[in-house]
Amino acid sequence: MAQQLARESIANGAEESAAVEPSATRRSREFVEEDEVEGPPVSSDCERRLAELATWCRDLEASPRCALPPSPEDCARLGAMLRGIWAASDALGPSGLQRNSPAQRRFQEVLGRFFWQSPIIHRCFAKPRGYAGDFLMMDDVYRNLPKGETVLGRWMDRWVLEQPGFVAVRNRREKLISLLREEWRNGARHAMNVASGSASELADVIETNPFQGVTLLDQDQGALFAATTALGRRMDPAHVRTWSGSVFTLIRGKTTLVPGDQDVIYSIGLYDYLSPRFATALTARLWLNLAPGGLMAIGNFNGHDPMRRFIEAAMDWYLIYRDAPDMLALSAGLPDVEGAEVWTDPTGCLHLLLVRKRGAAGSRLTSVCG
Ligand SMILES: C[S@@+](CC[C@H](N)C(=O)[O-])C[C@H]1O[C@@H](n2cnc3c(N)ncnc32)[C@H](O)[C@@H]1O
Repeated sequence: MAQQLARESIANGAEESAAVEPSATRRSREFVEEDEVEGPPVSSDCERRLAELATWCRDLEASPRCALPPSPEDCARLGAMLRGIWAASDALGPSGLQRNSPAQRRFQEVLGRFFWQSPIIHRCFAKPRGYAGDFLMMDDVYRNLPKGETVLGRWMDRWVLEQPGFVAVRNRREKLISLLREEWRNGARHAMNVASGSASELADVIETNPFQGVTLLDQDQGALFAATTALGRRMDPAHVRTWSGSVFTLIRGKTTLVPGDQDVIYSIGLYDYLSPRFATALTARLWLNLAPGGLMAIGNFNGHDPMRRFIEAAMDWYLIYRDAPDMLALSAGLPDVEGAEVWTDPTGCLHLLLVRKRGAAGSRLTSVCG
């Protein structure tokens, strides 16, 4: 129940922060009042494992191997110690590590100072734009170039960038690029990206596959600025439409989008924050905008992501996970569905729901769900 409330509040928090400058939102770490700690006390076994990992981190920090890329042995050892901590924290069940639990707090107290030397881990934890997973952090995951002011920080950055969840994010971007190219080759000319971030995948395809119209939606004006700047160098800026606001406004029908004017509509990195009710409502709303024969793609992590407990513990980052049947359920009530399928990235962490709309143009767009 507490987990569900936490998840809902993430969704509502995104809604609340939509109207204000992200850097001024009250959800960033500096301003958030500490919630009460709930849950069973930390076991002595868990305390022992936390201390053991702290010792291991200190040894690594002092070792010449810290200046080298993480070795398979170190990665295996770190992974095994983390799994031991999740087991001793009762975090291996479907609800993961409880937010604000003594186990989460102790993890951060004992180990935060090591992991947070990685800029990417610290950014996810600190949420400087008021929400987790902002576009600058996503761009860092895509660039995959470790940073850090300390040797241990760079080691941790490099280690985390190779964790399956972040590899999956890069795989998803590649898949989207190939889908956009394929749709363009088959005649698609208008694309809409919902919760676009910096839309770097579009910037990558636009020169070789010049979409005539691009529509970007995001609550973060900084993300839209980054996206339009990058796209504006490669296409006529007059053909880039932006819509700054929360998708909750869309769901409530308080904004107008032209029905059926998009050949491709996609959203990645957003549904992981939407409860089933909002996710279903948003899918139905977006579907109205898809042209006959068009393709909709929706991304979501599934609960089998081995990085899940780590992002909960070290980054205080909680997602709503969906398995393939949950993804397919999002398209279940839509009219005029020609076909729906779920693509899973090679790490197995992430799904993309691909839904093709039936219609006159369907015959030119048969490569997915055909
Ligand atoms: C994880 S990033 C994903 C960005 C991009 N789609 C990508 O995959 O690189 C999440 C994006 O969703 C946006 N976002 C989060 N909640 C939103 C909401 N309720 N309405 C609109 N945008 C939202 C954020 O501003 C952020 O740019």
